[in-house]
Amino acid sequence: MNVYSAKNLTYKINNKIILDNLNFEIEKGKSYALIGCNGSGKTTLMKILAGVELNFEGELYFFDKKLDKSTFEKLFKEGFYKKVGYLFQDTDLQLFNLNVFDEIAFGPRQYIADEKEIEKRVFEIAKLFGIENLLQSDILVLSGGEKKKVALASILVNNPDILILDEPTNDLDPKSIRFVAKVLSELKNAGKTIILSTHHFDVLLLLADFMIVMSPDHRILKIGKTEEILKDKELLIEANVIDEEFEIFKKIY
Ligand SMILES: Nc1ncnc2c1ncn2[C@@H]1O[C@H](COP(=O)(O)OP(=O)(O)OP(=O)(O)O)[C@@H](O)[C@H]1O
Ligand SMILES: [Mg+2]
Repeated sequence: MNVYSAKNLTYKINNKIILDNLNFEIEKGKSYALIGCNGSGKTTLMKILAGVELNFEGELYFFDKKLDKSTFEKLFKEGFYKKVGYLFQDTDLQLFNLNVFDEIAFGPRQYIADEKEIEKRVFEIAKLFGIENLLQSDILVLSGGEKKKVALASILVNNPDILILDEPTNDLDPKSIRFVAKVLSELKNAGKTIILSTHHFDVLLLLADFMIVMSPDHRILKIGKTEEILKDKELLIEANVIDEEFEIFKKIY
């Protein structure tokens, strides 16, 4: 079963092409890494999949339902964001509460009435991310990595089936990168559908079944199994994400 399928998906801003005629399917329970150089269109595509940007051309289906400007309100009312968790690349755009507890509790408060139950869930997820000591902190004082952990916790606390994660390991220290990769890999093994973008190649083998490789001119160059794509140095050079000297198979952090 496909979670998403896109047919001739194109996105333009002021006539400048940002996504050029993309065709792909995202299968339920599989994990996908979007790879491409800076500016290739990964964030734009993830915003579209997350329903944040709807001014695209072509067709996009969410399960068997059309997702576009005219249908999104209905999808939203049917609980789109209970199913889909979206992590913004820019964490500052994501976090909008004053303190960490309220940020993580925001989602559960939409569907749980019992504040004790909400507290329990918030503490559990905060403990998992090692941020329980930050729960009463002001969001504005957090470090970049701490903000990323809070943003991830605020999504995962809702237990969505589909995770759209734009550079989830950005800003994290090496130990935290490995930790987040492990958490996501457990979620993958639990059957979640994951679409993530990353410039951290070494987490890909752990996390992604498939890679979607974007070209500098905003097309999909190739979709294939992660092990196969990572062996295809020519392709990755064409995508402008590595140079000749880059060593792909480094040890994971
Ligand atoms: N509102 C906008 N106005 C003009 N250009 C835009 C706008 N939003 C995005 N772009 C352009 O679209 C292109 C794709 O941007 P996008 O953020 O999707 O790239 P990306 O692949 O996520 O890059 P990165 O690896 O740096 O995160 C970039 O060239 C960007 O400058
Ligand atoms: Mg981006």
